[in-house]
Amino acid sequence: MTEFQTPPIDPFAIRFDAESATLSPEGPTLVRRMSDLEGLFADADAWRAAVADGDPVVYSVQSSPVPEADRELPQSITTIQPGTTAGELWMTKGHQHPDHQGEIYLGISGTGGLLMHDGERTEWLDIEPGTIGYIPPGWAHRSINTGDEAYRFLAVYPGGAGHDYGWVLEHGMGRRAYAGAAGVELRPFGG
Ligand SMILES: [Fe+2]
Repeated sequence: MTEFQTPPIDPFAIRFDAESATLSPEGPTLVRRMSDLEGLFADADAWRAAVADGDPVVYSVQSSPVPEADRELPQSITTIQPGTTAGELWMTKGHQHPDHQGEIYLGISGTGGLLMHDGERTEWLDIEPGTIGYIPPGWAHRSINTGDEAYRFLAVYPGGAGHDYGWVLEHGMGRRAYAGAAGVELRPFGG
């Protein structure tokens, strides 16, 4: 047998209910309200107004019970609500993996975008149900709801990769996504 620093968990099946978008058995659920997204929307006044006006839930992340431990492969279902803040589409905080490792996202329902930035280059992938978006090592990633219903995707990621949210505050994401008349409008980050 291979020697592991942390003993792996035992094999098990997880049931995904597409109707309720729940995992069973389930792990922890993370809820991000508008107030958790400080410094991320371009229009800080509009962000502040939205926090004061009920501080809505922007997205939630339901994890499977697989731990975020080295060599394990955790999964989670993210649900981003539809909405905009001064025209900027609702989104996740975005993060970089401190230990540069890849990840995949699978679109489940609604429509969204996967915005990636490596510090110089920026990429955008349209994600719809059935699309697998690949995030290569070293690319920070943020998801965005581009439609008018909840956008859901499954993430599968290396448990030891970690989450660095400060990287996005420091480096930005290269582009911002706005609701335009003809769909998503990507604008320069500083614009
Ligand atoms: Fe990630």
